[in-house]
Amino acid sequence: MSIKKYYITTPIYYPSDYLHIGHCYCTIAADTMARYKRLSGYETFFLTGTDEHGEKISRKAAEVGKKPKEYVDHIVDETKKLWSSLQIDYTHYIRTTDDYHKRRVQKIFQLLYDKNHIYKGVYKGLYCVSDEAFFTDSQAKLKDNKYYCPDCEKELERREEDCYYLRISEYGDWLMNYYKEHPEFLEPKERVNEMVNNFLAPGLEDLAVTRKGVDWSIDVPFDSDHKIYVWIDALSNYITALGFPEDTEDLYKKFWPADVHFAGKEIIRFHGIIWPIMLKMLEIPLPKKVYGHGWILFGDGKKMSKSRGNVVDPNTLIEKYGVDSLRYFLMREINFGSDGNYSEEALLKRINSDLANDYGNLWHRITTMLEKYFDSTLPEEVESVYGERERELKKAVLTLDANVESSLDGFQFHEALIHIWDVVRITNKYVEDSAPWNLAKDESTRDHLATVIYLSFQAFYTVTSYLQIFFVETPKKVFDRMSLQPPTNLDCAHNWASLPAGIKIEKGEPLFKRFDIDEELGTDVAPLNIKDCKEKKEEINNHKTDIDITDFEKIEIITAKVVAAEKVENTDKLIKFVIDIGDKENRVVVSGIAAHYKPEDLIGRTVLYLANLKPRKLRGIKSQGMLMFAQDGTTLTSFSLDKEVPAGSIVK
Ligand code: MSP
Repeated sequence: MSIKKYYITTPIYYPSDYLHIGHCYCTIAADTMARYKRLSGYETFFLTGTDEHGEKISRKAAEVGKKPKEYVDHIVDETKKLWSSLQIDYTHYIRTTDDYHKRRVQKIFQLLYDKNHIYKGVYKGLYCVSDEAFFTDSQAKLKDNKYYCPDCEKELERREEDCYYLRISEYGDWLMNYYKEHPEFLEPKERVNEMVNNFLAPGLEDLAVTRKGVDWSIDVPFDSDHKIYVWIDALSNYITALGFPEDTEDLYKKFWPADVHFAGKEIIRFHGIIWPIMLKMLEIPLPKKVYGHGWILFGDGKKMSKSRGNVVDPNTLIEKYGVDSLRYFLMREINFGSDGNYSEEALLKRINSDLANDYGNLWHRITTMLEKYFDSTLPEEVESVYGERERELKKAVLTLDANVESSLDGFQFHEALIHIWDVVRITNKYVEDSAPWNLAKDESTRDHLATVIYLSFQAFYTVTSYLQIFFVETPKKVFDRMSLQPPTNLDCAHNWASLPAGIKIEKGEPLFKRFDIDEELGTDVAPLNIKDCKEKKEEINNHKTDIDITDFEKIEIITAKVVAAEKVENTDKLIKFVIDIGDKENRVVVSGIAAHYKPEDLIGRTVLYLANLKPRKLRGIKSQGMLMFAQDGTTLTSFSLDKEVPAGSIVK
């Protein structure tokens, strides 16, 4: 019998800095897919890792006085810790600095050279140091006679040097044909149009694949003046991790070609053009699919990225809201092929409505009823009492598998979750419409009561079995409370009424906590949840995009004197301040700083105050403006002045 196999990869990330939720997004999606395939009986190889060579990384390391390897080792440790907090269950973590990878990349380079796909020439072009990519004049953005990177918008440098080229220009027609004959190769469809319109139709140019004068790269095997430039090194990871070209009998034989490479849309040019051409030159099969996912944007429509400085640290979110909440949010909120917005408010809304209300509450309701009417012991269902409602519930549960599977096979994670939540809602409605509290009043409807409760648990069990694809903690909790082993496959959907009657079920703590959104967001400290780390602090200072004086003039920062302060009732974090701002009226500001200051600490003190921030309501109190503090890691400190100034003095 042939074993079903599945090979999935994420991009290998640059360890030039700590990873942010953009990277988590792709890794969580790949992990979700891997879980789905494992639960569907596939032997799954899930590869992720780090792309550690290149000028940008050696420069970053030098900035903090470290050797490149020492620098990347630290970031890789942090990355692995992050994947462990997110419970990313990868099969192998590849580092491009691993000896086996370097050796195999050199062999790949040699193979390409021996087959005459690589030749020596002179490179003249526009180079983006940040993205480590060359661009032609027509690809670059021209503004005020300067060229800028079409991806990261940084200024490009003109470079001229002898280097080795890969003859990709000869493969444009072949690739366009390949796209036509294999419409499933590159998805979603708009990525094909982007590749054809931007790169293939205008004509491919041969690709510079080496560089001189850099240390932190792999040597060209036969010419050590030249280093292998980042993309041959990076893309090859997908096959060197399996042993190619040294050992092609074991993992490579089993798992190549990959079933899917996930990659953000900005690197589809490499995965959708250079990579298939390289593989064609090597005369080995192409991956079955490259899926170019969209970007996580901040509310302002900007891509979350390290160089823009608008990153959100996943560790803080995991600590605050839990790993399943973050995983759920990222998979539910954004359609995988498109861009989507991140905001903490949207995350909190999802937690409250979908997780705490719909799913968590359903558990609470059914376990409470079980406790009350059947002493926490699952009764037997009685099929003879089935009516229209039972038949509907059964149909919804039994169609879940086809719906979830077709969504996930098309990488529509959000849609799969919508299907699962439909069943959660139908079950909630089933309980409500069946009104078990009325059935409990009369002994003659005891069988019906037992059936309503049994079937609600059955639906909850099936839903939770499917949620093993997305969640890493909650299903274990649920199955544990039901005294059942977690199902190791997804057959549960076909097994209606499979729960063993008589099991004890424990209600336990709420599965998901509800958050007070105002209170959570009430912290008026800058939302950059970046780790307390020396290098990072320097980063923060450099991070914000430049503004001009007219932008600054829009901001009204003044001194204010704290007149009164008190904790906001029933909150841990909020303090209500009344402040004097000079000749204007007193103002009320609510600040999320109770972990740092007692209310009385600041009474009588002069503080910096951002006066023209739009007012908003926190716990029903209209908060006007924002008190300002210096943030050092997790500590807040107020500012002190050399001498007293009147309240309302302008800060500029
Ligand atoms: N090292 C290359 C990839 C080589 S793969 C052979 C690289 N690294 S990266 O660190 O910049 O990571 C890029 C990938 O991280 C994106 O393609 C995407 O998968 C993920 N993301 C980084 N920022 C992201 C968002 N803001 N939104 C969504 N995904 C993001 O490019």
